[in-house]
Amino acid sequence: MGDARLLEEAHAVEQFDTPELHALIKDMRDTMEDLDGAGLAAPQIGVGLQLVIFGVEENPRYPDAEPVPQTVLINPKLLKVDDVMEDGWEGCLSVPGMRGLVPRFVRLQYSGFDEYGKPIERTAEGFHARVVQHECDHLIGVLYPMRIRDMRQFGFTEELFPGEDPGDD
Ligand code: NI
Repeated sequence: MGDARLLEEAHAVEQFDTPELHALIKDMRDTMEDLDGAGLAAPQIGVGLQLVIFGVEENPRYPDAEPVPQTVLINPKLLKVDDVMEDGWEGCLSVPGMRGLVPRFVRLQYSGFDEYGKPIERTAEGFHARVVQHECDHLIGVLYPMRIRDMRQFGFTEELFPGEDPGDD
C-alpha cells in the first residue's frame, strides 16, 4: 500500500496462452502460496493487467472458510445479483499485518476467461464472492481499506485477533 501502481486501472489481457502469460501466472501462484493468500491480483506484483488468481483449500489464515475453487480469472466482469451485503474481515498481501471489516455483496455472478482464453461464468456467494470482489477491486485501483465503513474496525491483526497466527500479511 502506497505504491502508485496499486491505484491504477489495469489493462485488459489481449493474448491468451502465451509464454509470458503462463510465466506471470506461475509467478503469482508462487507468491500467493508463499504468503498463504486466498488470492492475488497482477497489479500486486507490479503488472497492470486484468488478471487475478484465487482459491482456498485448507488455508491456515482462513480456517473457517468454505473452499473456493483454484481459479485464474482474466478480464473479469462482475454482475450484481441483488443488493444484499454483509461485513466480513479481510486482509491483503499488499496491506501486511492488518485486517479490516469490509462490506461486500453476498452473492454475485462473475465471468471472464482462463489463461487459455476459455470462458468462465459462475455464480458465487459468501467467502467465494468476497474473495472475487476483493481481487477484482485491485484491477480498478481499490484496496480494501477504501471500502471500510467504520474505521474503528481496522487495525493490526495481532491486536484484533490476539493469539491468531497472523501469517505474512
Ligand atoms: Ni488484496
